[in-house]
Amino acid sequence: MTLEDGQAIPPFAPINPRAPFIWHGGDYNPEQWPRALWDEDIRLMEQCHYTVPTVGVFSWVNLQPDEEHFTFDWLDDILDKLAASGRYVCLATPTAAQPAWMSQLYSDVLRADANGQRRHHGGRTNYCPTSPNYRRLARQIAARLAERYHAHPALVAWHISNEYLGACYCDSCAATFRTWLQQRYTSLHALNQSYWADFWGHTYTDWKQVEPPYENGERAIHGLTIDYRRFQSEMMLQCFQLERDAIRTFSPDVPITTNLMGTYFDLDYRAWAKEMDVVSWDCYPRPNDSPANVAFLHDLNRGLRDGQPFILMEQTPSSQNWQPINALKRPGVLRLWSYQAIAHGAETVMYFQWRRGRGGCEKMHGAVVEHSGRTDTRVFQEVKTLGAELERLGSTTLGATTPARVAILFDWNNWWGLHDAVGPVREKEYVPVVRQHYTAFWRRNVSVDIVFSDSDLSRYSLVVAPMLYMVKPGLAERIEAFVQQGGTFVATYLSGLVDEHDLAFEGYPGPLKNVLGIWNEEIDALYPDQSNQIIMRDQSSIYTCGRLCEIIHCEGAETLATYGTDFYAGQPVVTRNAFGKGAGYYIACEPEQRFLDDFYARLLDEQGIQAVLETPQGIEVTRRVTQQGPLLFLLNHNEESVQMSLTNQQKYYDLIKSQPVDGNITLEGRGVAILQKM
Ligand code: GLA
Ligand code: ZN
Repeated sequence: MTLEDGQAIPPFAPINPRAPFIWHGGDYNPEQWPRALWDEDIRLMEQCHYTVPTVGVFSWVNLQPDEEHFTFDWLDDILDKLAASGRYVCLATPTAAQPAWMSQLYSDVLRADANGQRRHHGGRTNYCPTSPNYRRLARQIAARLAERYHAHPALVAWHISNEYLGACYCDSCAATFRTWLQQRYTSLHALNQSYWADFWGHTYTDWKQVEPPYENGERAIHGLTIDYRRFQSEMMLQCFQLERDAIRTFSPDVPITTNLMGTYFDLDYRAWAKEMDVVSWDCYPRPNDSPANVAFLHDLNRGLRDGQPFILMEQTPSSQNWQPINALKRPGVLRLWSYQAIAHGAETVMYFQWRRGRGGCEKMHGAVVEHSGRTDTRVFQEVKTLGAELERLGSTTLGATTPARVAILFDWNNWWGLHDAVGPVREKEYVPVVRQHYTAFWRRNVSVDIVFSDSDLSRYSLVVAPMLYMVKPGLAERIEAFVQQGGTFVATYLSGLVDEHDLAFEGYPGPLKNVLGIWNEEIDALYPDQSNQIIMRDQSSIYTCGRLCEIIHCEGAETLATYGTDFYAGQPVVTRNAFGKGAGYYIACEPEQRFLDDFYARLLDEQGIQAVLETPQGIEVTRRVTQQGPLLFLLNHNEESVQMSLTNQQKYYDLIKSQPVDGNITLEGRGVAILQKM
């Protein structure tokens, strides 16, 4: 079977064929509770169809009370109990927080802060990713777990560590960084050249002078600051890889993951995802976040491994506790957001956490089971109802593909470069800007893939690269080939400024110049109370723009719109360059959302790219295709019920309600439907 664009539908491949259903579960910490409670936990898990608890996160000291001894008996017991009750387990390695004895014994295990000061023991993710002792002991505990549990009947996935994050600035990291740089640049001369180090006379004359960009040290060389982010992301990834490899030796067939955090700044998740068998991520939007923003994050995670479904590893059953204000999820929201994840590629609905701990800084965080231990709570009942529904869906939504002809490019190195660059505005707002473009498609129910600087672009009709400040080697060539063959490419202000070393191109938009047919003379930054206008050449509309306005000139491109005011009034602001069989568009200012909505509507029309379905406001629809055919996910983000008609006389079957639907469908407030064609 193939999709409309000829792409093959991947064969049915659930995350683990031993558990081919939507996993419902999440963080379970039996080690924090008396054993007497474990049977009660399992009884309640049965009630609410909690099929895949995640066990072992942060349990290092319970598994290894000192360097010589291992205590697996409690884990043996709980895994056996869970298996006996028909549950499966996502088994975590405990390495996100080292035991106190380890910090005491080996001070190199502790992380150093941005001034190079060794930190005290405590918290979590407080280990140094290059520490030989940390690495040795992490590899060892991962290997021990895999050796012991690889054949356990409950085991369906490995969860390495937890939410890798941050950076370390210790002496071991500094030394390893220098070696890393030597391998990358070979000579000090090449390093100085790449860093433009003659600036302020920062030229290095000895490798030993090269230090991490300490907060109270070298922050002025952005080749260095970006390289240090690359380096730390890679060192932490190596920690993941060494545990992964240790596990694979014993457990080659069980998928291995670690839980990512959406648009988390410090780690290049595209590079990480390549090392994972399956992507998993923790979804914690604010209750008032736009559903488009959450949809974007799911699509980002689906994109990390080029469309492969992902694990929703954590979400709160109700409130968070680390926001300034932690509102409860309103009735129905947990269900709606869980299905939204599935609608974008999740194959699991999992939580942090099963039972609310009595102490520690997360005792106020939402949980399936409250301190009272009662089941007659709103949250427990919602989890239970959802669990039963997911169980009934079985495997119908698994192994699906989202066919998308539109791609939006996102890149972590680009984000770092934009972030570090001083000027023309302090906050570049990369993620909000990417989301703004994404929202224009989301509002129309047009499927979008998130792609990266190294992605294959050839399968798309329209590729949008907001603020592509850093153009890495080879990317411009691939964009050109894509447009040559008929693709449409859209770039915006702040694009084509620097190469991968953060060295400015001699003329913007650098290597994107051919495809865009413009050159960029100056970049104006506007104060919040100032604005300019985008006046369409065909007089069809006038839009507001602001924040960043570039003064550009056409060199081959045609002008579609001009600025309305200021000394650059009448100069081009939106351009189109015919290139090969396709075209390259440039948007030189930050436009209001209405501009993007109209602009992309026109491009979509030209390309014949249609909405999955046209829907009333607040109804999101996605389309996922399985071997059995397409599925439509209808999500009502409104509080009120909405009636809508399904086009073209098609008869559908509602998989959740188990009933046929034709013509019209009513979605209750925050309601959901999954429709299969009949
Ligand atoms: C993260 C962590 C969990 C927990 C939750 C709280 O996602 O992985 O251990 O701290 O946040 O929201
Ligand atoms: Zn370190």
